[in-house]
Formats: sequence, structure tokens, C-alpha cells
Amino acid sequence: MLSKTRVLDALRHETHDGDLGTLLAFVEGSELGQWTTIHDNDSNKTIASFAICSHTGAMNAMAAGILTKKLAMQFLTDIRARLQSATRRAIENEKGYVIDVNLGSGGQAKSSLYYVFKDAGVYCGKAYADDPVSMEHERSVSLAVHSMQAVPTLIKVIDAFHSGSHSVLILPLLAKSAADLQMARPNGISCEAAAYVCVAVLAAVAGLANEGWCHADIKPANIMLAGNEKGAVLVDLGSCTRVGEEIKECTELYALGLPRVAGLQWDLTCLASTLCVLSGFSQLLGSTVVQVQASLVGLQGQLPLGCQLAMCILGHSENVNSVADLQARVWEDVMGLVQGSLGEETAKRLVAAWPSPL
Ligand SMILES: Nc1ncnc2c1ncn2[C@@H]1O[C@H](COP(=O)(O)OP(=O)(O)O)[C@@H](O)[C@H]1O
Ligand SMILES: [Mg+2]
Repeated sequence: MLSKTRVLDALRHETHDGDLGTLLAFVEGSELGQWTTIHDNDSNKTIASFAICSHTGAMNAMAAGILTKKLAMQFLTDIRARLQSATRRAIENEKGYVIDVNLGSGGQAKSSLYYVFKDAGVYCGKAYADDPVSMEHERSVSLAVHSMQAVPTLIKVIDAFHSGSHSVLILPLLAKSAADLQMARPNGISCEAAAYVCVAVLAAVAGLANEGWCHADIKPANIMLAGNEKGAVLVDLGSCTRVGEEIKECTELYALGLPRVAGLQWDLTCLASTLCVLSGFSQLLGSTVVQVQASLVGLQGQLPLGCQLAMCILGHSENVNSVADLQARVWEDVMGLVQGSLGEETAKRLVAAWPSPL
């Protein structure tokens, strides 16, 4: 049986530039993915326990010597078979979308992601099996949020349909998640990337809150970065909850012990935790808002920009009750920190992310 450390080491060794892409090996029960047992039928032994979610993942695993070619091929077959070929044909005939190989990503309990082609475009297809309600929920949040305002940093559903027992969302294809980047840079992502993440997520939260929604599951895996890291988008509308209602789907760790009530405080706290994690503090510096704030104060003077932004957000989070508060307090202060650290030009580029009425 391969140890988890060896799998992770192999990944770190084999992957450059943070594109861990699609072979995901995580600690059991972690929010990013689950361990899966790989069984070798020939020797009747369990060989490894980790999650492989994609075509590229299986290829990477083979290249890293974690899996034999034969086992990797078994995975590929399994991955390809997830969306039945009859369903693929129907989608192609009726909608013109060609569903290609699985697009690796972690944390997908209910859905699978695929590369999708149509005409000259390439998209991301998020397919739910036997779960039309989840798909319709994401579609309706996207419609509500994007129809009256431009929110460029929140994922926008391009198309959605049901085919056979599958329900499919067509999304823009995005590059890599902040979780991928974090794994590649365990000591902390660059100040610039932290600023892009912070500003993009704040703007997306504002766009959602304008329509009465709380994202509820802000964390590195649900933030996608542009290939050059100059730009970020908040994804996964599946957890979105009406403001004031109980949050059912979330990653508790990031909410630092807050009661599970949807609202700006929840999303801001999760963003602050995310920024600490991305800045290299994966243990989150505490399990409550007060503890994290105290730890950050203790580190004053040597705080990377991501942590300065987190501290600023946590300092306001309790008193932000409307989008107007969010803009006047958090957004203004964040922009001040960004400008001080990265200069006026970057701040000007970033400020354009704020939602604008259509
Ligand atoms: N449009 C996209 N393009 C590329 N990768 C994506 C896209 N949307 C999500 N992902 C990646 O896939 C993962 C799973 O998608 P997500 O929408 O979060 O599904 P789930 O509801 O299963 O968490 C995300 O954590 C993210 O890393
Ligand atoms: Mg998700």
C-alpha cells in the first residue's frame, strides 16, 4: 500500500507551476476530496488509497509511477464511462455539445465536470446524475444574479438542460483553482494573486448579496484563477442560500465557529480564512474569529498581503449588514491596502470588478 506521503511527494515532484491539475490525493475526509481505495484484481490487494477524478489525473499518476499503466487504464475506462455514451449522443444530437473527457477537480460529491466543445468554443460541463434539483438551483441563482447586473467575478451559467437521467450545466472553462495553487505554493501564494482572489470574491459576494443570496461555501477549491493568476472567479453556486436562512452545505472550518446563518458575515469570514490558508497558514491560526484575529495581531509586521486583507475583513465582518456597508467599509479599506502594496495601477484594474447595474 502506498503511503499518502509518497503520493503527495510524487505529485509535488512531478508537477511544476502548480498545475496539479487533476490527480488529487488528499487526506481522508479533507474538504478537497476523498480517499478512494484502489484494488488490484490480479494480486487481490489494495494498492493505494487516493482520489483520482480525471483523465489527466490518471495520466499524471502513471507518469509519476504511482499507478501502473494497466491500473491507470482501468481508471480511464471508469472515468469515461461515467456519462453513458447514449446520453452523450443525445446531448450532441439535441444540443450540439460534444462532451469530452472528465475535467479533473476535487470535492465533487454530486457532480462530474467535463470538457465540452461546441462550434469553436470549449466549455466546462457540470453534470448531475439523477439530481435535477441541484442543477436547477445553480441555474436559477445564476439567472437571478446575472440578469440585472454585471458581476464578472461570479461564475455564470451559459446553458442548462436535462438529458436522460443527467442534468447538465454549461459553464465557461476556467484555468486552475486557488486550491491547486495553494498546493503548489504551500508557503503562500504571491501578494498579487492574494489581492486578485480577495477583490474578485468580495465583488462576487456583493453581486450575490444584491439579490439576497449568500454563497456559503467560499474556500480555495471554489475559487478559480486565470492562467496568469491575474484574475479570479468564484464558482459553485450549489451551496448558495437565501440570506437569513440556515446554511445546509458548507465547509465549517472556514466559518470559524459562526452560527450557520446565511449572510455577509458568513461569506466575509470564509473569505478571510481562505486568504490566511492561501497565504501559507493552512492551520488557519485558530478556530474562532477572535483567535485568528489575535494570531494575526501577534504576527504584525511580517504579515503577507493576504493576511493583511484577512485581518481587515475580519475587523469589519461583524458590522457589515448591507452591500452599501460592504462597499463603504470593506471594499474601500481593501482597495487602500492593495494600492499601498501593489501600486495604483493594479488597484485601478482591480476596482473594476465591483458589480455594475445593467
Ligand atoms: N468552470 C469551471 N472550469 C474549470 N474548473 C471548474 C469550473 N467550475 C468548477 N471547477 C473546479 O471543479 C471543482 C468542482 O466544481 P464545483 O462547481 O465546486 O462542484 P461541487 O458542487 O461538486 O463542489 C471546483 O472545486 C473547481 O476546482
Ligand atoms: Mg465546490
